[in-house]
Amino acid sequence: MKVLILGSGGREHALAWAVACSKRVTEVVCAPGNGGIAQVARCVPVDLKDLAAMVRLAEAERPTLTIVGPELPLSLGIVDALQERGLRVFGPTRAAAMLESSKGFAKQFMQRHNIPTGNFAVCCTAAEVERAIEFFHAPIVVKADGLFAGKGVIICPSRHTAIEAAQGLFTGVLLGEAAQQVVLEEFLEGDEISFLCLSDGKHVAPLVPSQDHKRIGEGDTGLNTGGMGVYSTDQLLEPSMTEWILHHIAEPTIRGMAEEDTPFAGVLYCGLMMTARGPQVLEFNARFGDPETQALLVRLESDLLDVLEACVEGRLAQTEMRWSRGASACVVASSAGYPGSYKTGIPITGLVAAGQIPGVQVFHSGTALVDGQLLTAGGRVLGVTAAGDSLKEALARAYQAMAEIQFEGMYYRRDIGHRALKSALKS
Ligand code: AMP
Ligand code: GLY
Repeated sequence: MKVLILGSGGREHALAWAVACSKRVTEVVCAPGNGGIAQVARCVPVDLKDLAAMVRLAEAERPTLTIVGPELPLSLGIVDALQERGLRVFGPTRAAAMLESSKGFAKQFMQRHNIPTGNFAVCCTAAEVERAIEFFHAPIVVKADGLFAGKGVIICPSRHTAIEAAQGLFTGVLLGEAAQQVVLEEFLEGDEISFLCLSDGKHVAPLVPSQDHKRIGEGDTGLNTGGMGVYSTDQLLEPSMTEWILHHIAEPTIRGMAEEDTPFAGVLYCGLMMTARGPQVLEFNARFGDPETQALLVRLESDLLDVLEACVEGRLAQTEMRWSRGASACVVASSAGYPGSYKTGIPITGLVAAGQIPGVQVFHSGTALVDGQLLTAGGRVLGVTAAGDSLKEALARAYQAMAEIQFEGMYYRRDIGHRALKSALKS
């Protein structure tokens, strides 16, 4: 069978690698793909902002299943468009993907369904912000409603700076595009957990938990990024806590979406803050995380395709997912200057030696294969991913592989997993 994957990042490389391992798969096509994906799939160009072009591609390729990686095609309605044409596709509809594409919708949805999340106000004008701000204590989180790749979130030390930030979002000064709505949020403190689940619209199946490292600098300092590294180990959450999150967050979300006639099928990514008053939802994503997926899929022992097809066909309740007992880690190598501006087209070396280290998979995020030479082509360039019997082993393997890789200006955090290792030392 033929599988089409939409996207071009490390997440899509990991998806293509896992799908290509399935015995039933005869061909993997990825659009537009990247230099690494080209080693496991046939890459075809497509503009992920162009709904009509993606539909034309799927109609021409006629895959048995299409898997949508990033949020943009979901928010444009690629799932609705392919379903209308009788094509099978993994991912939520445009209306269901609003859990990610509108932070205001997500917050009001959580309020309607009693899903634990911080206090908030959705504002459409600067005057509304000034009125609502009285109900918040500093620091205040100000967010643009809409998809801004994690860049639309500003943590403000005072009410005054929060008002200024909201104004900057409304006028378009901060993001280059004017926000229609701004969400004010209570600042939540604690450890962040990425709790991803699969759903077929009714049943919810959690994946193993993971922890992202969003800041560019070691010790969680500096600007927010798309994610600089992830680790996954079962020790991140007690089984009773996993149950609690399922019963109080993931299942009520899927039930609520079905009750509102916008059933959610696909990956429900719950971004959680583990606060002193329990887990609170920071955000929902309507897709696999990046780089979470890289770390999760090296632990998945079941056939990914079987599981995704069970979601599409509404039989997730009868499908079991098996995971390795150990741990995994993904360390991201980025271009100098990221998350600001950076150069591309820089040669990358050492990938063969890196890939030979036991348990290691190097997933490409921003690379391009030009005349047989692998070049950098993005801010996040590679996700060096390793599985191991313990987190320590997985991290050691990932860093050992990283040491083999070189490109001019290469940067990576050397402290991925630092919180887990610290708590392991305490216990
Ligand atoms: P979001 O795109 O909404 O997940 O926000 C990006 C990042 O900003 C999150 O991963 C958190 O690290 C941080 N953040 C977002 N909302 C809050 C909040 N209410 N309190 C504290 N940190 C937050
Ligand atoms: N790693 C964060 C995200 O996928 O949004």
